[in-house]
Amino acid sequence: MKGNWPWPRLFAHRGGGALAPENTLAAIRLGQSLGYTAHEIDVKLSQDGVPVLLHDATLERTTNGRGRAADLPWAELEKLDAGSWHSPRFAGERIASFAQAAALFRSRDTKVHIEIKPTPGFDRETGKKVALATRALFGDAKVAPIFSSFSFEALLAAREAAPEIARAWLIDQFTDADWDRLGRLEAVSLHTSHKKLDLAQVPQLHDKGYRVNLYTVNEIDRAAMLLEAGVDGLFTDSLEAFAAYFPKLI
Ligand code: G3P
Ligand code: MG
Repeated sequence: MKGNWPWPRLFAHRGGGALAPENTLAAIRLGQSLGYTAHEIDVKLSQDGVPVLLHDATLERTTNGRGRAADLPWAELEKLDAGSWHSPRFAGERIASFAQAAALFRSRDTKVHIEIKPTPGFDRETGKKVALATRALFGDAKVAPIFSSFSFEALLAAREAAPEIARAWLIDQFTDADWDRLGRLEAVSLHTSHKKLDLAQVPQLHDKGYRVNLYTVNEIDRAAMLLEAGVDGLFTDSLEAFAAYFPKLI
């Protein structure tokens, strides 16, 4: 395998899975309180270049804002309610900046998988800025974060800006063309959908030195089968159930 692999087999997806509003500090706290030692987050840029935690390019689904996050400065984004959409008890929860999330992760030595999720058209800028921010915020962390992205350009830019931070190539459906991308990124891992990967490819990927991590697995039987088949790690939204069933894997 390429490099050491300091990750547990289960990652808390979008900060805290389904129990709290995704990609918020409340979600991260919840994952930590359940014992998770590694979290996945999605990071993109505000209009003024501040890295923030947000999955979608637009604000409507997970906040009370409108339009693209890339069109608002951080000073506007931080006023939005990013919790009410989930449930009343999270009303008033804010969008988290990457720096705020980093402080929370660092307070518990939580390991972080950073999915660089550029707003379309901002791929290189996002890769570079997130990489430099990661170096500044986690440079002395016990375990360095890992980057992944569906954007090849963003990951290339991250590699140029902070080559020392490991990368994973993230693709919905793995095809032969992705071997070349894994090589050009000097990636250590392939991340892909558990619904589409032919499990016969797991040993092939391992033979070439790549780890294999799959999203988003929410059923215990399915997770047990995939882990037994040799998949290195899974991203899950079922935080409570997985922590109870696989307590040694978080
Ligand atoms: O990083 C794995 C997974 O998060 C990719 O899918 O859409 O949940 O960001 P998505
Ligand atoms: Mg993600």
